[in-house]
Amino acid sequence: MYKKILVPLDGSHRSMAAATHAVQIASKLNSKITFFHVVPNITPYGSKSGEHPGAAFKAISREFEAMGESILNDAENEFKEANVTIEKKLAWGKPEQEICDEAKVGQYDLIIIGSRGLGEIKGYLMGSVSNRVSRHAPCPVLIVR
Ligand SMILES: Nc1ncnc2c1ncn2[C@@H]1O[C@H](COP(=O)(O)OP(=O)(O)OP(=O)(O)O)[C@@H](O)[C@H]1O
Ligand SMILES: [Mg+2]
Repeated sequence: MYKKILVPLDGSHRSMAAATHAVQIASKLNSKITFFHVVPNITPYGSKSGEHPGAAFKAISREFEAMGESILNDAENEFKEANVTIEKKLAWGKPEQEICDEAKVGQYDLIIIGSRGLGEIKGYLMGSVSNRVSRHAPCPVLIVR
């Protein structure tokens, strides 16, 4: 049961709480975990005359990608003592859509996600990503608060 677990991470403390939960379950059930980060798409913008078109866009894209990689690496380091197989994966696009696509294509049998994330400013119980993933995921979703 729950042999393949997808854990979407955005760098927030709640997504790390979800990761902690996933590691505990995985160590009991001998599951494989994938830490997954989605770099949100940005619109090409920001060339001035004389500059290479889209130079600012490329610079920001690279920075976003580096940020995503560092979120995944930090999480991997955090759990390196745990006796659990952890893989990392980075995708680009809409977080909720990429998470659901990955769960489907990779045939995961559980998603463990934080209830809120980096945008935690309003009083809602769930953020938009966890809300949409819980409604559209192809497998069970465990929401950690
Ligand atoms: N870009 C992302 N890549 C991977 N996982 C993500 C990403 N964004 C959010 N998540 C996952 O979804 C959980 C809930 O975050 P969500 O974005 O829904 O809440 P929020 O940031 O508080 O609200 P909102 O983004 O709607 O303002 C996070 O704890 C994390 O597990
Ligand atoms: Mg968010």
